[in-house]
Amino acid sequence: MSEAPDPRPTGEPVGRSGGVPVIEFRGVGRTYSGRPPVAALKPCELVVRTGEFLTVTGPSGSGKSTLLNVLGLLDRPTTGTYLLDGLDTGALGEPARTALRGRRVGFVFQSFHLLPHRTALENVELGMVYNGTPRSARAGRARAALVRVGLGHRLGALPTRMSGGERQRVAIARALVHRPSLLLCDEPTGNLDTANTGLVLDLLTALNADGMTVLVITHDPDVAAHGTRTVTVRDGVLAEAGPGAGAGAGPGVRVDANGDVGAGAAVVADPMPTGRGGGVG
Ligand SMILES: Nc1ncnc2c1ncn2[C@@H]1O[C@H](COP(=O)(O)OP(=O)(O)O)[C@@H](O)[C@H]1O
Ligand SMILES: [Mg+2]
Repeated sequence: MSEAPDPRPTGEPVGRSGGVPVIEFRGVGRTYSGRPPVAALKPCELVVRTGEFLTVTGPSGSGKSTLLNVLGLLDRPTTGTYLLDGLDTGALGEPARTALRGRRVGFVFQSFHLLPHRTALENVELGMVYNGTPRSARAGRARAALVRVGLGHRLGALPTRMSGGERQRVAIARALVHRPSLLLCDEPTGNLDTANTGLVLDLLTALNADGMTVLVITHDPDVAAHGTRTVTVRDGVLAEAGPGAGAGAGPGVRVDANGDVGAGAAVVADPMPTGRGGGVG
């Protein structure tokens, strides 16, 4: 009976395979108005459960960022229902969506978005200024998050003196201080060399092993192969690419893990265009 926008669904069956749904799309689509309108994300079904590491791949302009913006409550779908942690996000006003985003979603972007003249510790602390974390608690939580990403020895370093991989780990720490249930990453390794890409992927994999649900958008088939599951977006059409994308699970069209595709859902048996991606691992 609580009105607080913080519910785990009660009485819902626990997921058949893995955890409960974190993300549940029911016919979710996003069309940008204009002449002509752009159907950037065609109506689709998608269920992502706790503990999954989902990678999303597809060509430029295919709708990946549109998907991420909807998932992260930065934008509203123009059709369909989006449940985040069981909560119907479409029924919420902007203040409730902002609060939900602050508590449940962490963001990591290609270009880090760190303040250059603030230390790593300050950058992570600043992420807590607007979410109601008491000032007295901020430094300790920021330090713990930086230790978690392997930067306990770099608390006082400025981003301008850090490698790209270190900067991205600061950005990940900043996302972690909110203890999100979902970590959304848009091309997190897009600005990194191979070695730093490996470090960031190892970190995301470790966070996922600790129970964090992770979603990574990427152009890179080797990065996509790090997921426990991959979906593709092509011309706004979301499709399942099979577990790990490179793991030879076949082009399953398991868009909804419940096996219920639903009317009007975008379902295309078009596996990753990269084939096996060359990643033998
Ligand atoms: N705010 C917007 N208004 C109109 N069209 C948009 C807007 N944002 C993206 N688009 C269009 O939607 C499509 C998908 O874009 P996007 O989601 O950014 O793709 P990706 O991230 O895969 O490169 C593209 O055709 C793009 O031009
Ligand atoms: Mg994009």
